[in-house]
Amino acid sequence: MFDSIAPRYDLLNRVLSAGLDRRWRNQAIDALGLSSGARVLDLCTGTADLALAATKRISGARVLGVDFSSEMLRRGLAKVRAGEHARAIQLVRGDASCIPAADGSVDAVTIGFGIRNVAEPGRALEEIARVLRSGGRLAILEFGEPRIPGVRTLYRWYFRYLLPLIGRLVSKHQSAYSYLPASVGAFPPPAEFARRIAAAGFSQVQAVPLTFGIVYLYVASRR
Ligand SMILES: C[S@@+](CC[C@H](N)C(=O)[O-])C[C@H]1O[C@@H](n2cnc3c(N)ncnc32)[C@H](O)[C@@H]1O
Repeated sequence: MFDSIAPRYDLLNRVLSAGLDRRWRNQAIDALGLSSGARVLDLCTGTADLALAATKRISGARVLGVDFSSEMLRRGLAKVRAGEHARAIQLVRGDASCIPAADGSVDAVTIGFGIRNVAEPGRALEEIARVLRSGGRLAILEFGEPRIPGVRTLYRWYFRYLLPLIGRLVSKHQSAYSYLPASVGAFPPPAEFARRIAAAGFSQVQAVPLTFGIVYLYVASRR
């Protein structure tokens, strides 16, 4: 599915979020509070937007981006090569449930809109805990639901009906953008997901609503 939506993935992100996706990624990077030269692992990196944001916002950061879709990575690589920080980002094909990195080898892990898609999220959290150094930081962006009733009703209509329609017309994929609201509906609520992060070996877990709670930013530190 991700291979086939890769050609229009970035365009649809910008259009369907009205450009807010860039701001959410920047907020995730800033919440890590990293110092210069940090080693960052961006899991489910897709077309590398979060990896690119990390190199722009953290001076001297070195980023390893991992994803299992070769088409998403191919597009990500073209963007990385065209950017200012080409040498700071390495993209590798791999699975979030079996991360190709050594124990305690990174200062931070980021995941943008990817954990919901991972078949075994508990296994991925264990793997993240393994590769993070003690005190290392975690930032996960994932979709949520607005908490204000009127906004929630409006948003549900957009997310369940209009977004899949636009997604289908632009991507030409029949089901990928219907899968999006379905997979968000199946994802645990923020408090529950925060508990799962804590259970995987993290402290100071926070679930921060962004833009009325359309998106949640989960931040934590490795114990
Ligand atoms: C919605 S995209 C997010 C891409 C990017 N992080 C962003 O912020 O736009 C989800 C990505 O997760 C990847 N993915 C899903 N399950 C995965 C897994 N088990 N291991 C590695 N990548 C995975 C998909 O290939 C896809 O590129």
